Amino acid sequence: MDPIISVIGAGTMGNGIAHVFAQHGFTVNLVDVSKPQLDKAIAVITKNLDRQLAKGTITEAIKLSTLQNIMPMTSMAGIGESQLVVEAATENTELKLAIFKQIDEAAPEGCILATNTSSISITKIAAATRRPGQVIGMHFMNPVPVMKLVEIINGYATKKEVTEKVVELSRQLGKIPCVVNDYPGFIANRILMPMINEAIYSLYEGVAGVEEIDTVMKLGMAHPMGPLQLADFIGLDVCLSILNVLHDGFGNPKYAPCPLLANMVMAGKLGIKSGEGFYSYALSSKDLVVSSRFI
Ligand SMILES: NC(=O)c1ccc[n+]([C@@H]2O[C@H](COP(=O)([O-])OP(=O)(O)OC[C@H]3O[C@@H](n4cnc5c(N)ncnc54)[C@H](O)[C@@H]3O)[C@@H](O)[C@H]2O)c1
Repeated sequence: MDPIISVIGAGTMGNGIAHVFAQHGFTVNLVDVSKPQLDKAIAVITKNLDRQLAKGTITEAIKLSTLQNIMPMTSMAGIGESQLVVEAATENTELKLAIFKQIDEAAPEGCILATNTSSISITKIAAATRRPGQVIGMHFMNPVPVMKLVEIINGYATKKEVTEKVVELSRQLGKIPCVVNDYPGFIANRILMPMINEAIYSLYEGVAGVEEIDTVMKLGMAHPMGPLQLADFIGLDVCLSILNVLHDGFGNPKYAPCPLLANMVMAGKLGIKSGEGFYSYALSSKDLVVSSRFI
C-alpha cells in the first residue's frame, strides 16, 4: 500500500505540499474547511502540473497519477491511516493550537505531526498535543514544487527518530532538508526578515530609492530578487507579523519593525496581493513599477 500523508489547509502552501507528495507516489488527503478552497487547490495543482509537462520535467502519466493520488476532503475524519500530517492552515496561533488538538485526536498513534508555520513556536504547538515528541516543523518554501529547501525544525521535545524520518521523507520528495532548532524565526526568517527590515529602514531614512536598494542587492549580492520586491511577494503584513515574533521572542530592539512597514500595513498596502507595496502591480504581478509613493 502507498504511504498516506494528510495535508491540513489547501491554500498557497497546502496545495504545493500536496502536489509534491502526490507527484512522488504518496496518497494525499488534502483537508480544508472551505470546499471552494479545495476546488481552487485542485485547479492550481492541475495548472502547475501542465506547466511541468510543457517543460518536459514530468510525463502525462505522472500528471494523471499525481491528480489521482490527491483526495480532497472537508473534515479530518478521513486522516486515520496517515503516517504523517503536515499542517499548512492560516498563520494564527490560537487556530493552530485548536487544529493540533483535533489532529492529535484523529491521527493514529505513531503518526508524525508536522507544521509548516513560518513563525509560531513548534514547542508551543507540540504542547497542545499528547505526543510532543512526534511534533516537528516542516517549513516548505513558496512555490513548493520549485523551491528545494525544507527547513526542518526540532521542537524542545522532538524525538531523534522523528527528525530522521522527516529528513528521509523530504529527500524522497527531491528536496534538500536542513535541520535547525526551535527559536523565534528559526533560521530562514531570523536572517531574512532583519535584512528586509533594514532595506525598508534605508528607504525610510532616504539613503536610497526602491530601485537602487533592490539593484544593489540583486547585482551586488547575486540575490535573484531585491529585498523590497521580495517583501512585496511575501506580503508586508506577513513580514510585519514575523518581525513582531522576533521582537517579542528575543526582546531585542534590533528586530523592531520599521515604522514605514507598520504604516504601509495599516494603509492596506500589502504588496502583490493588494496590488501595491513598494512596487505597483496594476498591470501584472511580474511588472516592476515603483509605487508612485516612492518616486
Ligand atoms: N505563503 C508563504 O509564502 C508561506 C511560506 C512558508 C510558510 N508559510 C506558512 O504556511 C501556512 C499556510 O500559509 P498559506 O500562505 O498557504 O495560507 P493561505 O491563507 O493561502 O491558506 C490557508 C488555508 O488554511 C485553511 N484553513 C483555515 N482553518 C482551517 C482548519 N481549521 N482546517 C483546515 N484548513 C483550514 C484556509 O481555508 C486556507 O485555505 C502558514 O502557517 C504560513 O505561515 C507560508
